[in-house]
Amino acid sequence: MKPDTLQVAVCGGGNAAHTLVALLASHQEVSVSVFLSFDDEARRWQEGVAVRGGIEAVWSGYSLIGLPKHISSDPSQVIPGASLIFLALPAFAHEDVLRQIAPYLEPGAWLGAIPARSCFDLCVRDVLGDRAASLVIFGFQTLPWACRILRYGQAVTVLGNKTQVDLAVWPKEQSDVLANDLGKLLDISIHPIANFLSLSLAGTGQIIHPGIMYGLFHGWNGMPYAEAPLFYQGVDTFTAEVLESLSDEVQSLRKAIEQLFPTLDLSAVRPLAEWLNRCYQKDIHDNSNLQAAMNSNRSYAGLRAPVSVIEKGYAPDFNSRYLSEDVPYGLLASLGIAHLLPEPVATPRMVHVIEWAQQCMGREYLIDGELRGRDLVASRAPQRFGYTTISQLINDEHLMRRF
Ligand code: NAI
Repeated sequence: MKPDTLQVAVCGGGNAAHTLVALLASHQEVSVSVFLSFDDEARRWQEGVAVRGGIEAVWSGYSLIGLPKHISSDPSQVIPGASLIFLALPAFAHEDVLRQIAPYLEPGAWLGAIPARSCFDLCVRDVLGDRAASLVIFGFQTLPWACRILRYGQAVTVLGNKTQVDLAVWPKEQSDVLANDLGKLLDISIHPIANFLSLSLAGTGQIIHPGIMYGLFHGWNGMPYAEAPLFYQGVDTFTAEVLESLSDEVQSLRKAIEQLFPTLDLSAVRPLAEWLNRCYQKDIHDNSNLQAAMNSNRSYAGLRAPVSVIEKGYAPDFNSRYLSEDVPYGLLASLGIAHLLPEPVATPRMVHVIEWAQQCMGREYLIDGELRGRDLVASRAPQRFGYTTISQLINDEHLMRRF
């Protein structure tokens, strides 16, 4: 991919999209267009960009600004000609946005999600069918930055950069090229990993977000909070134990799959503590245990739990993406993968946290611990795409049977 001809499309208008657009469009040789599904967001981006002459991303000590060439809620104005397309969106928006942009995708384009969350590849294949084979599909294990919009359509603050970010690519042979080119464009260190299955299991958002929400709010008695509790700095011994047990269950799942498929490389599915250390080496002040690492991570400092305003204070916001994204597009997918194994792996904590979360959200994914709830259709559990065995899932990715 030659930088001097690079046309990039960014789909989305939230924190991640602001950061990505600022970074990409700050390269002179890159032309960036933005697709927003909603008219009012496109209008607010156009107005915001006009005020500041671009989107400004502000790090501690420096900032950069990038001016997108085109902003539109019409995909036909953004996607044709783009050789690199990012979905910088919560996972629950991936499917809708993929359907909107699908008619305009050009063969050979690189299409990916930052971050992918679980089973992004299954979603792409489901939406695009055979046409997916003409594209290169990629997924980031996490968003490389912790970032929050300062002013919509104008500026975003970047609270921290992850030291290294994993990337899955299909076809796998393209991994090194994408890792190298995307790393240069985004000024981050990207590590290519073996497969999308690793990416699905390695999503740490599925552990951290529902796990901390559960830890903070499972005993909530309906009384308003005077202020939103600190999220990461609010991790106590109990919550750290919840996070550890969720991480352990993912590791048991990884080991069970590796026993069934000894040549399958799932080394990128790291325990949570190891992942934290790898991503936030420089930002973690006290790495003596998981609770201390969460509490002392500079990138997480000051971030508060999602809340809504109620009479006399604040209530937990159970509709926030910490549950609405990370349960159906994360933890539930891992549980779904566990249920594809011939011999069940014990996942009591996953089941417990999902059952608590579905009740809080008014959703139904599990019935008696089984993935047969009415809302499974709005999830990325592999069962939703018709998978019934782990062999099918692995063979489809490796043999590309569906293409
Ligand atoms: P966000 O909540 O700021 O994104 C909202 C935007 O997504 C909306 O403005 C809209 O443009 C788009 N969107 C939402 N629903 C849509 C729909 N149904 N159809 C079309 N577009 C829709 O999210 P943010 O912060 O940008 O995060 C993006 C992804 O990055 C998420 O998966 C999040 O979990 C992940 N992430 C974000 C981090 C951060 O610091 N912001 C850190 C780590 C991960």
